[in-house]
Amino acid sequence: MTQIKAAITAVHGHLPDYILTNQELEKMVDTTDEWISTRTGIKERRILKGNGLATSDMGAEAVKGLLKKRGIDPAEVDMLLCSTVTPDMKFPATANLISHKTDIRNAFSYDMNAACSGFIYALVTASKYIESGRYKKVVVIGADKMSSIVDYTDRQTCVIFGDAACAVLLEPTEENGIIDHEFETDGAGYVHLHMKAGGSLKPPTYETIDARQHYVYQEGQAVFKFAVTKMAGVSVDLMQRNNLRAEDLAWVVPHQANLRIIEATGKRMGVPADKVMVNIQKYGNTTNATIPLCLWDYENQLKKGDNIILTAFGGGFTWGAVWLKWAY
Ligand code: UT7
Repeated sequence: MTQIKAAITAVHGHLPDYILTNQELEKMVDTTDEWISTRTGIKERRILKGNGLATSDMGAEAVKGLLKKRGIDPAEVDMLLCSTVTPDMKFPATANLISHKTDIRNAFSYDMNAACSGFIYALVTASKYIESGRYKKVVVIGADKMSSIVDYTDRQTCVIFGDAACAVLLEPTEENGIIDHEFETDGAGYVHLHMKAGGSLKPPTYETIDARQHYVYQEGQAVFKFAVTKMAGVSVDLMQRNNLRAEDLAWVVPHQANLRIIEATGKRMGVPADKVMVNIQKYGNTTNATIPLCLWDYENQLKKGDNIILTAFGGGFTWGAVWLKWAY
């Protein structure tokens, strides 16, 4: 019997309208377009403005577009996973709110959090439900309203992040699809990238707010070094295990945290720059949405059977790589 695999059969994103440019950031903090462009590759990022709008609103727009594109009724969806570090609320899960807003009534849904690696972790988790044979249509969303946890007086972090959501549909296949993955975590890395307060360790108080502890805390240089070595390392391991050569790959899709990290990862994998997806200049680091947003941007260039490696590194530390064959 042929083994059931999970394939991405549609991808659709949602970008908030507001464009925060480097020039506008120059007026907000002590920075320059030149510094941001040369150190990160980012030119602009999207920001979700408006009262009462949250991660689930972007996620819901992405899912509505996804189902429309594939011609699927919300009632057909079996399961929905959302990976996010900026849930609307601590509970219930943002995935539940997205299901509610998109009229998905016959599915169960929950959130996952593996920081910037969240989307690929959720994708593989979802693929296992498909491979079980029991679930036929699973939606996976990477969504973050990073502007809700970014300190716009801190030039080290506020220039990097942006808001967005992107969703993919997974369906069973017997040919192309998700084939293999390699994931690793190291909790000792938490010291370099975390949010200090707001969790059970330090519930919110006036003091934590005054100390600005409800924002992303990042030691950029330390994270940078790990990101380059770990993303490339895990991708090469995955390639070697599957006898994949660099020339066999149609695309590498790295998490978009910094153009220098993206370029270094491609180089270490031996993959030419024109096969490495890049859209960081337009959206910045959208945490859970970066990888599906790349697939969405490059969708027209993808061909059935293309070998693609997705790779991410993020808070935790978490990192990993996924090998899939594009299905359409
Ligand atoms: O997605 C999750 C994983 N995250 C990542 O992968 C992020 C990894 N880290 C990075 O991308 C980079 O480390 C950053 C973009 C965060 C920072 O770039 P860097 O080249 O590592 O800069 P740095 O932190 O070493 O700072 C260099 C200088 C410092 O000034 P001094 O001490 O040399 O005088 C900073 O204060 O640049 C200064 N600086 C800035 N200057 C202008 C830091 N931020 C800015 C800024 N504008 N926005």
